[in-house]
Amino acid sequence: MRLVSTVLVAFFLCCVFVSWQQKPAPPGEKVYKQYCLSCHMADGGGVPHLNPPLDGSSLVNKNDQQSTQKLIQIVLKGMTDRVPIDGEYYSNNMAAHAHLSNQEIADVLTYIRSTWQNKASAISAKEVAQMRKKLL
Ligand code: HEC
Repeated sequence: MRLVSTVLVAFFLCCVFVSWQQKPAPPGEKVYKQYCLSCHMADGGGVPHLNPPLDGSSLVNKNDQQSTQKLIQIVLKGMTDRVPIDGEYYSNNMAAHAHLSNQEIADVLTYIRSTWQNKASAISAKEVAQMRKKLL
């Protein structure tokens, strides 16, 4: 009987510990899974010659205003530039995602800039709103 209750107590403590450790998923993760994962993949690694990786991308990791605005532009207007990205060309086209809200775009860009190896600052819905006004 003692053994059973010890096992039960240990199990209970484990559950408490596990649920305490689980952080809520960041809001951008949901947007990423729904709209970006099919091309850029769950690990952000992309598909060779087809879709560029976002993990380790130099543009995604730059914090200056020009790079931030370029990222917002890519999501709002898509990208079919055929310019090298970190030295590689990619043959697929990225569709425009202007149907996403300013908050969803801010969340997904903040997510890709702070996930995998990436360590860049957050992007706000206000910055997205400004670019939307300028570009669309
Ligand atoms: C249909 C496939 C597809 C989907 C869906 C897609 N992308 Fe892309 N993405 C691409 C391709 C292809 C390129 C490169 C286009 C080129 O070379 O002209 C690209 C480029 C990018 C870049 C520039 C990368 C760099 O290092 O310069 C970013 C950032 C990006 N996508 C983010 C996103 C985000 C965020 C989403 C979801 C909202 C998304 N993409 C959805 C295919 C896709």
